[in-house]
Amino acid sequence: MKNTVVTFREAKKENKKQTMITAYDYSFAKLFDEAGVNSILVGDSVGMVSLGYEDTLPVTMEDMIHHTAAVARGAQNALVIADMPFMSYQTSVYDAVVNAGRLIKEGHAQAVKLEGGAAVAEQIRAIVAASIPVCAHIGMTPQSKNIFGGFKVQGKQVEAAQRIMDEARLVEEAGAFAVVLECVPAKLAAKVSENISIPTIGIGAGNGCDGQVLVYQDMLGLFSDFTPKFAKKFADCGKLVKEGVGEYIKEVESGAFPAEEHHFKIDQQVVDAVK
Ligand code: KIV
Repeated sequence: MKNTVVTFREAKKENKKQTMITAYDYSFAKLFDEAGVNSILVGDSVGMVSLGYEDTLPVTMEDMIHHTAAVARGAQNALVIADMPFMSYQTSVYDAVVNAGRLIKEGHAQAVKLEGGAAVAEQIRAIVAASIPVCAHIGMTPQSKNIFGGFKVQGKQVEAAQRIMDEARLVEEAGAFAVVLECVPAKLAAKVSENISIPTIGIGAGNGCDGQVLVYQDMLGLFSDFTPKFAKKFADCGKLVKEGVGEYIKEVESGAFPAEEHHFKIDQQVVDAVK
């Protein structure tokens, strides 16, 4: 059954946890969709895990549209949410609506995600008014890493914790259908989740959230540059990949691959006739 923003709303009412995972291409989107996740986030984390940048700041609208369209072709039932890249919405409400529209029209996403609370509440309001569902993202917002002084847990002191609660209420009021809480202490995230009516999707925010999101390379052991403390490795696909490619190298070098069953056949007469 197709997941929509209505599914998110109902899940919160029914106290049913939502699963979100990132994907950046057709094949993985299809696998995750078939596994049954509720939503697929085409995160601007694509910049780090697929494109090799050290942060998400260089990611462009063209990158996001390209990857979102590939994911959308692979996802039948999962809601496809596309991240709005750095400087595609901060510059003005007008830019935010135009760029959100491009992710829907050209990328075929069904919703967009953007980072920030009070600073982008007008953008959220305007995008929703243009009939595009918005998932908000507060706490540690990677596009603001230069303001935070790195990727750091947010909301540990009273003032910062209150700001997270206020921003959650603000994005809810602005019309967001869900909010990602990233790197927020678990007890604070649980309290935020109890105090707003839209689902909270946690990443490094404990199990009191209404759902969880992970970057798939982190949870499947496919990214070794660093592993965030909150990312559980559910499978070691990196090890499997290295073993499989190691076997391939051995068999090509020994001549065992390709074997007879991988050959295309031809009549010997045809071969003999070729001079
Ligand atoms: O870009 C991304 O993958 C994200 C998640 C970490 C929430 O924003």
